[in-house]
Amino acid sequence: MLKQGALSRAFTWLESGPVTMITTKDGRKNNVFTISWTLVLDFTPRLAIVTGAWNHSFDNILKNKECVICVPGADLLETTVRVGSVSSTEVDKFKEFNLKTKIAALVQAPLLADCLACVECKLVDYVPAHNLLVFDGVKLWENSSRKEKRVAHAIGDGAFVLDGTVTTAYREIMADKVPAGSLRIK
Ligand SMILES: Cc1cc2nc3c(=O)[nH]c(=O)nc-3n(C[C@H](O)[C@H](O)[C@H](O)COP(=O)(O)O)c2cc1C
Repeated sequence: MLKQGALSRAFTWLESGPVTMITTKDGRKNNVFTISWTLVLDFTPRLAIVTGAWNHSFDNILKNKECVICVPGADLLETTVRVGSVSSTEVDKFKEFNLKTKIAALVQAPLLADCLACVECKLVDYVPAHNLLVFDGVKLWENSSRKEKRVAHAIGDGAFVLDGTVTTAYREIMADKVPAGSLRIK
């Protein structure tokens, strides 16, 4: 079950560059699409994605100035790829791919209940020259009950890397660079 987490560690879910599913609302209906071009711009967290008018979700984000960035586990990778291979103008992806939702706290777009983490986001800037959308994360939800903890990373050629070994062996060396409240991996 998704539970509220400390916003101070929200960026840690995105810094490793996972493939994400992003929900939006177009006024009436929820939409979801897949984004692998994500970026952490600051710990606060300030987060960015790259997308544009070729996706229906882009119009929703510009209109409502919000979205939810969700991080699926590797067990949801096939679903994530399918979600990114069809437009919500053609199908109801929530029904088609059996995506369970929960009501978010601060935005209208829904949380994806089976994801490992969901960051509710408010749009703070749009840089058309680079199709860059910049967000402030305003609430973090985490799902510690999922068995699959690995996330997937897109190489970009249709292949993916699934998380391997996680090490904290070098944390001490960069201790003064690790922001307070950000420890997620114990
Ligand atoms: C693995 C994967 C990664 C993707 N990453 C991006 C991305 O970073 N930026 C983007 O604009 N589209 C990306 N897409 C494409 C969109 O998810 C896709 O066009 C989607 O169908 C748009 O849905 P919508 O029209 O309902 O918004 C990706 C698709 C896949 C399968």
